[in-house]
Amino acid sequence: MSIRKAVIPAAGLGTRFLPATKRVPKELLPIVDVPTIQYIVKEAVDSGIEEIIFITGRGKSAIVDHFDHAPELERKLEEQGKHELLESILEVANMASMVSVRQRDPRGLGHAVLCAKDVIGDEPFVVLLGDDLVDDPTPCSRQMIDVFNKYGKSVAALMRVAEEDVPKFGIVGGHSIDERVYELDTMVEKPDVESAPSNLAIVGRYILKPEIFKYLEETKPGKGGEIQLTDAMARMMKVEGFVGYEFSGKRYDAGDKFGFLQANIAYGMKRRDIAPRLKAYMRELIKGS
Ligand code: UTP
Repeated sequence: MSIRKAVIPAAGLGTRFLPATKRVPKELLPIVDVPTIQYIVKEAVDSGIEEIIFITGRGKSAIVDHFDHAPELERKLEEQGKHELLESILEVANMASMVSVRQRDPRGLGHAVLCAKDVIGDEPFVVLLGDDLVDDPTPCSRQMIDVFNKYGKSVAALMRVAEEDVPKFGIVGGHSIDERVYELDTMVEKPDVESAPSNLAIVGRYILKPEIFKYLEETKPGKGGEIQLTDAMARMMKVEGFVGYEFSGKRYDAGDKFGFLQANIAYGMKRRDIAPRLKAYMRELIKGS
């Protein structure tokens, strides 16, 4: 069955980014001049997704507004002949069909995904975390959909991480079955370095079969008192199988202060209108340090 729907969880509290995220959703903080979540929606659309399901919460309605029409602004830009800017905001409003589902209480990523159950129904879907960017000429979700189509099993995006970072991620174990592809037999959320099955971490992209909802419904709060997606996936893996895919591309955790700055510099460096000045400025900074 082809994958048509994407769930973008964006209901988290963003505590790592306070005070900025007290009022402004972290998913709307810009990487240069584009909100993080817009890159993520674009990745989904460029991967062939037709319907986006945002999981939002209290104080997050600006996310949905960002993807809506802004008639007054559109009229003003039209009158002023600012066609490029007008096009850029029309493009955002016409990206895909979108709905939002409210997660009343941010009880964890697993719970956020479970909120999409009725809108997803009985078909496989992609999950893209609202603060995780992956930069690659082939959109990460497209790469993952291709893996799903080949193996017919749910897919987790994998990335090798430094040993000291292992306790921050869901970590997998398994064996290689193809270039970049692993048949998984272990998944554990935020393990100690000593007990971790590998240094292959699950990062913000998943292709999930709809059976995941049954497992999520049975999942009790885990690490940090949150309903963990990894815990439900680990149980589903034992019955349905699960593959891991080491995607191609550079990932940025834009919900983390350092990751956010890295993404701004890297994306700025790719922009012809900014790169020359940014490079010169960085050289100047390095010389002075
Ligand atoms: P994070 O763990 O990065 O988000 O979740 P957070 O909880 O907002 O972050 P901190 O640790 O407090 O800074 C990854 C994604 O899952 C969403 C978040 O919005 C983010 O995009 N999420 C997380 C939910 O939608 N609901 C939740 O209950 C938790």
